[in-house]
Amino acid sequence: MERRVRVYEVGPRDGLQNEATPISTADKLRYADLLAAAGLREIEVTSFVSPRAVPQLADADELLAGLPRRPGVRYPVLVPNARGLERAAAAGADALAVFTAASSAFTRRNIAMTVDESLAAFAPILGRAGRLGWWRRGYVSTAFGCPYTGRVDPRSAVDVARRLLEIGAEEVCFGDTIGVAVPDQVSELTAIAVDAGIPLDRIAYHFHDTRGTALANVAAGLAGGVRCFDASSGGTGGCPYAPGAAGNLATEDLVYFLDASGWQHGVSLDGVLTAARFVAGVLGRPLATKVGQAGGWDPASGAATGRS
Ligand code: HMG
Ligand code: MG
Repeated sequence: MERRVRVYEVGPRDGLQNEATPISTADKLRYADLLAAAGLREIEVTSFVSPRAVPQLADADELLAGLPRRPGVRYPVLVPNARGLERAAAAGADALAVFTAASSAFTRRNIAMTVDESLAAFAPILGRAGRLGWWRRGYVSTAFGCPYTGRVDPRSAVDVARRLLEIGAEEVCFGDTIGVAVPDQVSELTAIAVDAGIPLDRIAYHFHDTRGTALANVAAGLAGGVRCFDASSGGTGGCPYAPGAAGNLATEDLVYFLDASGWQHGVSLDGVLTAARFVAGVLGRPLATKVGQAGGWDPASGAATGRS
């Protein structure tokens, strides 16, 4: 069986959304292009949300319209409502992600709707995006734990995922928004999703590395048959409406792990490190991820690779 995995980059969106320092559109465009140059084929570039909710991404229209699109690269954008869909369409989008959660306490703060209300609101958006021929993802945040109500029953996360697929999402992505999951819980969630009839090739995982469990969780996801994992180059990320949400799993850490484990993904570690260093420079701080600091490793010589 082919050992192939999709690495879905969220650095320009999740990575930057919580950053207080204003970043220029030109730097964001350069960052997205460095990621594409590194071989990433799915790059979530921005969000068409309220600029009041996420000021950092207020330039979504200009950014998407000005993006140099490389052939074969998908550039999904987050869309919370019909207004977001119109803006995304006008800027030339052809892939979107809607985002709800397993807990209404979170969705109320994040998008001012309960989970049920969000699914009702997303049905026409996914329907319209489908008619436009766009690729469509649905996020299930707080799939393992909610910052407001605590432990989440995996069956309720799977139920939301099933409903997202019913209303037109092509893929569901379970988010460990505040980074509390451990591998056994990932295995359990995957098994419950499969039992509920969700095909493995329509499942993705999005781990925040808040407590250092993200790569272990990827290993559990792979063992369960999931083949798409989100990551953010430089390990940036966090949701402004999820207190305690730290960075996403770093793309460079994920790529090192996949390479050394013999998984194919088409992403160059050196290329990701270049993008990660660029974004760290823009944010004015050192690159603090594990592989960002140590570099890769050449088993033939024993030397570290890709260090600046
Ligand atoms: P609301 O206040 O209920 O909506 O917010 P509203 O319709 O009353 O609008 C409020 C204001 O926003 C109005 O402007 C609207 O015009 C404007 P005002 O009259 O006050 O000047 N507005 C918009 N402007 C531009 N584009 C739009 C838009 N919609 C309304 N699309 C709303 C509801 C959903 C809009 C808001 O709560 C929102 O934008 N939320 C987004 C929050 C967000 O982006 N969170 C982070 C992403 S989720 C995440 O990070 C988790 C994830 O990574 C997975 C994981 O880790 O688990 C995906
Ligand atoms: Mg996230």
